[in-house]
Amino acid sequence: MKALHLTSPNSLEVVEKPIPKPRKGQVLVKMAYSPINPSDLAFLTGNYGIKKPFPTVPGFEGSGEVIESGGGFYANYLKGKNVACVASDKLDGPWAEYMVTDAAKCVVIGKNVELQQGSMSFVNPLTALDFIKEAKAAKCDTIVMSAAASALSKMVHYLAQKEGLAFGGVVRREDQVNKLQTWGVDYVANTSEENWMDGLKEWSAKRKKVLFPDAIGGSDVPSKILRCLPARSKMLIYGSMNFEEPAVYIPRDFIFYEYEVAGYWLSKRAGNKTFLQALKDTRAVQQMLSAGFENDIQATFKPEEFAKALETYNTGMSKGKVLFDLT
Ligand SMILES: NC(=O)c1ccc[n+]([C@@H]2O[C@H](COP(=O)([O-])OP(=O)(O)OC[C@H]3O[C@@H](n4cnc5c(N)ncnc54)[C@H](OP(=O)(O)O)[C@@H]3O)[C@@H](O)[C@H]2O)c1
Repeated sequence: MKALHLTSPNSLEVVEKPIPKPRKGQVLVKMAYSPINPSDLAFLTGNYGIKKPFPTVPGFEGSGEVIESGGGFYANYLKGKNVACVASDKLDGPWAEYMVTDAAKCVVIGKNVELQQGSMSFVNPLTALDFIKEAKAAKCDTIVMSAAASALSKMVHYLAQKEGLAFGGVVRREDQVNKLQTWGVDYVANTSEENWMDGLKEWSAKRKKVLFPDAIGGSDVPSKILRCLPARSKMLIYGSMNFEEPAVYIPRDFIFYEYEVAGYWLSKRAGNKTFLQALKDTRAVQQMLSAGFENDIQATFKPEEFAKALETYNTGMSKGKVLFDLT
């Protein structure tokens, strides 16, 4: 089969290798599509929380058809079905024509969901669901996202609307403001405008408590956003899109405004869920996709076009997801 191999940090190549065999409790998926996510970029450079010995097939999630079961009730049930799937932490990923993974890491793709949309069923949707749960548990009436022209942000806004939570987005360019306005967000701030903090502060003053998931990480922008939010708001650090600049925080903000701050990593959260919770969440995702929620997709590329695929994604993330076409 054709596969992408990561042979060392930042070194990708196309190789021919044998189709892997599933063991008990595992399935062989004939892959269809797999997106490039920011976590993949971090993995390719050796900066992600999950590391695998080289050479390894990268990628974390995708879609395809289960063509072989290694045995076991659920693995047998999946045979012949179209699934959304995630890679096992110990096995190769989905940037290949075939992937073996644990049956428990597959979910049957909902009716009316195309394989392209279905390939993005785990990383962002499960994170978006967790943000909504987190906002409700912390008794927040509002979510404010940074790097808000992202695919994840679109999903969080969609779910927030359904739950009656207000949604504010912070972006860095005018075209991104327009994008968020077409989603129908309640407020959008553009950090390239001089007085962006004043507007965000004024809008936030009408909110009770805000959950602020931050994907920027570096620079003083996250702490400036936090300073615009009501006292006792909660910041959830879940991304590091700006890793070039150090993060700047003002300790007195945390003291006098009693801001909370916590980290979020889906891999850890997902591992702590009961089987039933996980099942409920994956069903909710398939319902969301069946009900018409659509991820924006800007392009698909064959594995041998990986350099172009990565460049397209790296230079225009807000234009939509780039998928590997593994058919
Ligand atoms: N912790 C977790 O478990 C978890 C789970 C899921 C997702 N995530 C994180 O969620 C974030 C969004 O993921 P996604 O798949 O939705 O991304 P995406 O659709 O590819 O969009 C990324 C967005 O980030 C913006 N961006 C990039 N660098 C930036 C910077 N330095 N400052 C401000 N904005 C910047 C991009 O805008 P431009 O077009 O202007 O570059 C783009 O709008 C990522 O950080 C990802 O790692 C984390």
